[in-house]
Amino acid sequence: MKFFIDTANLDQIREANDLGVLDGVTTNPSLMAKEGIRGEENCKKHYVEICNIVDGDVSAEVIATDYEGIIKEGEELAALHPNIVVKVPCIADGIKAIKYFSQKGIRTNCTLVFSPGQALLAAKAGATYVSPFVGRLDDICSDGIQLIEKIVDMYAYYGFKTQVLAASIRHTQHIIQCIEAGADVATCPLSAIKGLLKHPLTDSGLATFLADYKKVNS
Ligand code: E4P
Repeated sequence: MKFFIDTANLDQIREANDLGVLDGVTTNPSLMAKEGIRGEENCKKHYVEICNIVDGDVSAEVIATDYEGIIKEGEELAALHPNIVVKVPCIADGIKAIKYFSQKGIRTNCTLVFSPGQALLAAKAGATYVSPFVGRLDDICSDGIQLIEKIVDMYAYYGFKTQVLAASIRHTQHIIQCIEAGADVATCPLSAIKGLLKHPLTDSGLATFLADYKKVNS
């Protein structure tokens, strides 16, 4: 399973990238706003900065919600860097735009997906990635991981090439559940990625190894 980091924060992107296990980055307008990035040109500069840090796919989301607007914005974003993936919301004009982009060879990430039906439309339109939002479903007492399982099964059954990118990951256990569900990618906050490292037996085992070494080497 590939790991993307879900942030627009450059320090966090660098830290995750330095671990050597990062495959890409996802952003959204809320994450960009959180970093205080405003204005079209500043957003574009920021996406290029991210692409210069990480050698992997970087999702940049369109703001337009009408077909012509999505096409114009998506083509501009795709022209910024070969690693840019145009992130498009799962609405009617978005699905039409994904079809257009896939025919033009522009890679896409269909976002704000909450049902197997939406994931089916994204795949039929030729999306490179589909982003089901695990945490936001869990927030409303629905089962986000079960949605991942259903989409993975549907895509395998029908042979769709669209990759399942589990989004809205909130904690480390979600990552493990995404692996078990067969997701192709999980996009995660840095804290959830770092959580994978934690085990008390690793800490106590290392302390014992170092103490034993010191006993005979000092
Ligand atoms: C990334 O592709 C999504 O926009 C993001 O994971 C949403 O996460 P949230 O539900 O924590 O805002």
